[in-house]
Amino acid sequence: MIKIGIIGCGKIAQVRHIPEYAANPNAQLAAYYDLNPARAAELAKKYGGKAYPSVDELLAVRDIDAVSVCTANTSHAEISIAALKACKHVLCEKPMATTLPDCEAMVQAARETGRYLMLGHNQRLAKAHVKARELIAGGLIGDIVSFRTTFGHSGPETWSVDPGKNVWFFDKNKAAMGAMADLGIHKTDLIHFLTGQTVVETTARLVTLDKRDASGSLIGVDDNAICIYRLSGGAVGTMTASWTFYGAEDNSTVIYGTQGILRLYDDPTYSIKVTTRAGDTILYEIDKIQTNDQQTKSGVIDAFIDCLVNHHEPEISGAEVLKTMRVIFASIESSQTGHSVAVQQA
Ligand SMILES: NC(=O)c1ccc[n+]([C@@H]2O[C@H](COP(=O)([O-])OP(=O)(O)OC[C@H]3O[C@@H](n4cnc5c(N)ncnc54)[C@H](O)[C@@H]3O)[C@@H](O)[C@H]2O)c1
Repeated sequence: MIKIGIIGCGKIAQVRHIPEYAANPNAQLAAYYDLNPARAAELAKKYGGKAYPSVDELLAVRDIDAVSVCTANTSHAEISIAALKACKHVLCEKPMATTLPDCEAMVQAARETGRYLMLGHNQRLAKAHVKARELIAGGLIGDIVSFRTTFGHSGPETWSVDPGKNVWFFDKNKAAMGAMADLGIHKTDLIHFLTGQTVVETTARLVTLDKRDASGSLIGVDDNAICIYRLSGGAVGTMTASWTFYGAEDNSTVIYGTQGILRLYDDPTYSIKVTTRAGDTILYEIDKIQTNDQQTKSGVIDAFIDCLVNHHEPEISGAEVLKTMRVIFASIESSQTGHSVAVQQA
C-alpha cells in the first residue's frame, strides 16, 4: 500500500487528489498539511490519516511514500524539493514552479534522489486528447500546418477554497503568473503532447485587461495571455489563455493539417470532429471535457500510483514538463521585451 501525504488541502486537493487517492486500491491517505490547520484536520477526520503542524513534520514521517503538492504556485519548488530530499515521490500541481532555475532544480532533485517527480497536467490524460494524438501520429490530417488552442473561463475567484477578489491567484507574490500559469500552461503542454513537436519560438502578450482586486485596482498578474507559437516542424499557431471569458468556458483545440482539420472539445456532442480535405467527416463521441463546475475523474492519481506500484518513470515527468515551462518563461520574456523569443531546449 502506497502511503500518501497531501500538502495544501484546498480545492484541487479536495475535488481531485483526495477522492482519486481514496478510490485507488493501492493508495492510502495518511497525512495532511495546510497553512490553515483546521482544513487539514477536517480532511484527516473525513478520509483517515493525521494532520501535521508543519511540512517538515509531515516529511519526517518515514512510512509516507509519496506526496501531492497542491499549494499556491510560488511554494511548489521549495516543498517538492524538500519532499524529494526526504525520499518521497512527488506529484506536484501545475505550474511546476515560477522560475526556470526552480523548475530545473526540481528535475535535478528527482534525478539525484532517484524519486519520481510527476506534474498534474491532466489534459494529457483527457481521452479525446489521447485519441487525437494517435490520429495525428497516424497521419489522418497529414502534416500540421497551423493550430489554435484556447482555455478560457471567467476566472479563479469563485473556484478557490478561499474565494473572493483577494484570492491568492490574483496575488503576484503567491501566484507569480495569472491566466498563463493557470490555463496557458495546460494548453502549451497539450500542443507538445498532441503534435510530438516542441515550441521553438514564441511571440506573446501577457496583459491585465479587466480583473480587479477588492480595492478596485487591476490585479498584479495577467488575466489574458495570447501567444503565437512556432513548432519544431514549422507549423505556426496560437495559444490563448483567459480569465475574462464571461460566459461558457472554452477548452478547445483545432489542428489544421495538409489533409484535414481536427477539432477537439469544440462540439457539444463530438469531442473529436475531423473534416478531411477529400470532404469526409469523421466523428468521435469519446467524453466531455472536465470543467470547473463539472469535475470528472482526471486519471492523474491512478497514473501516479501506477508508476509507484510498477516502478516506472511517469510519462508526465519533471523532465518532460520542463520543455513546456521553457516556453512559458520565453513567452513572459517576449511579452516584456516586445520581441519574438527563441525557446532554448537544452
Ligand atoms: N491541474 C489543474 O487543472 C489544476 C486546477 C486547479 C488548481 N491547480 C493548481 O493547484 C494548486 C492549488 O490550487 P487550488 O485550486 O487548490 O487553490 P485553493 O486556493 O483552493 O487552495 C490552496 C490551498 O493551499 C494552501 N496553501 C497555500 N500555500 C501553502 C503552503 N505554502 N503550505 C501549505 N499550504 C498552503 C491554502 O491554505 C489552501 O488551503 C495551484 O498551484 C493551482 O495552480 C491545478
